[in-house]
Amino acid sequence: MEAIKAEKIKKIYFLEGEKIEALKGVSLSIEKGEMVALMGPSGSGKSTLLHILGGIDKPTEGNVFINGQNLLSLSDKKLAIFRNKHIGFVFQFHYLLPEFTILENVMLPVQIYNRGGAKEKAEKILRLLGLSHRLKHKPSQVSGGEQQRAAIARAVVNEPDVILADEPTGNLDSKNAQKVMEIFLQMNKEKNVSIVIATHDREIAEYCNRILYLKDGVIEDIIVRT
Ligand SMILES: Nc1ncnc2c1ncn2[C@@H]1O[C@H](COP(=O)(O)OP(=O)(O)OP(=O)(O)O)[C@@H](O)[C@H]1O
Ligand SMILES: [Mg+2]
Repeated sequence: MEAIKAEKIKKIYFLEGEKIEALKGVSLSIEKGEMVALMGPSGSGKSTLLHILGGIDKPTEGNVFINGQNLLSLSDKKLAIFRNKHIGFVFQFHYLLPEFTILENVMLPVQIYNRGGAKEKAEKILRLLGLSHRLKHKPSQVSGGEQQRAAIARAVVNEPDVILADEPTGNLDSKNAQKVMEIFLQMNKEKNVSIVIATHDREIAEYCNRILYLKDGVIEDIIVRT
């Protein structure tokens, strides 16, 4: 069974009478343990596709399966639980909660459904991402790159089966980008986590098994790396 499967995904936005076809029928299938880069020009639909694969947004047409579960057949509540357990999402714009510290932000996904060890798990992953000295800071009190790493910590703290990351290294210098990719690689190799990374960065794509190219809402090319 595929970790991620999308069937003929279409997404149409209506904006002030104008129809925007962001996705025009995207099908893809990603195996367990695969790491895939999603590339393509700005506006080609990368974020839209990731949001739909992650159950954050619904397609106009088509179906999405994660570990065989059809996301569109779940109620909102069941979907929220499913996402918390199985999907780690890194947003292009990180959406940390401003009232909470970095540590609290990362503890939240563990606490939401009463899983144990939130503090230890959050501290461990923040340490791996080089943020041990920023645990008590609020997001507004740390740099953009630190916020982005905290958002990555929050996405992976529950050890999801699938990580969907939208330009996770967009705000990072090459050293920190490498740190993030090492964590993704480690989860990929050790836990067989399937990972999709939207990126404009060729070097990031080099870490991946496959590169999917989106252009104007369709997959234009697939490059398989050996
Ligand atoms: N909420 C929305 N309402 C209307 N149009 C939208 C909305 N969200 C995205 N779009 C449009 O859909 C298309 C795809 O946008 P998307 O954000 O998926 O692109 P992207 O590939 O992630 O770009 P970038 O590389 O700049 O992040 C764009 O033309 C965009 O303007
Ligand atoms: Mg985007």
